[in-house]
Amino acid sequence: MRKLFATASIAALALSLAACGGSGAGGGTDEGAGSGGSDEQKTVGVAMPEQTLQRWINDGKAVREGLEEAGYKVELQYAGNDIPTQQEQIDQMITKGVDVLILASIDGAALSTQLDAAEAANIPVIAYDRLLTGNKNVDFYVTFDNFNVGVQQGTSLLTALGIVDADGKETGEKGPFNIELFAGSPDDNNAGFFFNGAMSVLKPHIDAGTLVVKSGQSEFGQVATQGWDQAKAQSRMDDLIAKSYQNDKIHGVLASNDALGRGAITAMQNGGYDAASMPPVTGQDAEIASVKMINEGLQYSTIFKDTRKLAAQSVQAAKDLLEGKSPEANDTETYDNGVVTVPSFLLESDVVTKDNYSSLLIDSGYYTQANVDKGSVD
Ligand code: BGC
Repeated sequence: MRKLFATASIAALALSLAACGGSGAGGGTDEGAGSGGSDEQKTVGVAMPEQTLQRWINDGKAVREGLEEAGYKVELQYAGNDIPTQQEQIDQMITKGVDVLILASIDGAALSTQLDAAEAANIPVIAYDRLLTGNKNVDFYVTFDNFNVGVQQGTSLLTALGIVDADGKETGEKGPFNIELFAGSPDDNNAGFFFNGAMSVLKPHIDAGTLVVKSGQSEFGQVATQGWDQAKAQSRMDDLIAKSYQNDKIHGVLASNDALGRGAITAMQNGGYDAASMPPVTGQDAEIASVKMINEGLQYSTIFKDTRKLAAQSVQAAKDLLEGKSPEANDTETYDNGVVTVPSFLLESDVVTKDNYSSLLIDSGYYTQANVDKGSVD
């Protein structure tokens, strides 16, 4: 009788585990959910913000390839930087019954309804690169050390101006140097991290008078660029040149990414600066168009965030969640989304200049020299 009871309980347990597997969040009875060995192939919904920046194209491609290699089906959507489109795409993924979501948001605070729906359908959510805010239903976050990206950008500007040396030590150089600041989109949680990281190294030199923001615009709210829009950065720089630099030179520009850097550079070219007189401009993403400009001496630096590694990390997290495991975090403190602190895996980034782009980008197979010369990956 006892034995019978035990057998019945095991059968019940097996049944409930199987049911759990069908709901999306559980690993089911077959631990090879992603290894191709399961009875039913799992699907991962992947939402990416836009396709004008090359980085998101690379991200989408690498995530898709990684997931497919792991044996999953992939539903990948790009939203053209339009928030309602992204909401609708994610709604549809949930309706279709994807098993896990990897979301690179446009506005990190605009997906709360979708996060609630995912929770109700038992679909785990991974925030990709950008934090999802204002909702507890975020299981994991894969990103780079975004504050440190900003520190690297600020430090590279100081190095370019000779205020610190290659080892990061102050040289005693007092300038004064005129600089302008271009930050990212206010609805992107990363933008504040990049800006605060950069300001943590620039502000002491602004306070000391070594750096002068001639426009007087040095608060995030004054220098943020909606949608990370290159054209908006260009027209803001046009204005700054017209208002503050009729009789003065710009000596440096902090730009939070390559698109903003290129916008500022184009405005300065139109304002009479050429490769020889162009001040150092920072960037981020190691976009091919910017790496070409770095090689030509038009842009000073960019930050290389290897999207192949980020994609691989998100695939690993998806796999873990599908197998009912908690993905390994290396930061459980930094990313408070307003409701919960989301366990995160932060990757490291590198500063790229003319001197080291070859070893960082060519030797690692990210680009070929021909890509750099053409400024294109096609
Ligand atoms: C990303 C950057 C990117 C920017 C604009 C940020 O969230 O971290 O790599 O340049 O968005 O798309």
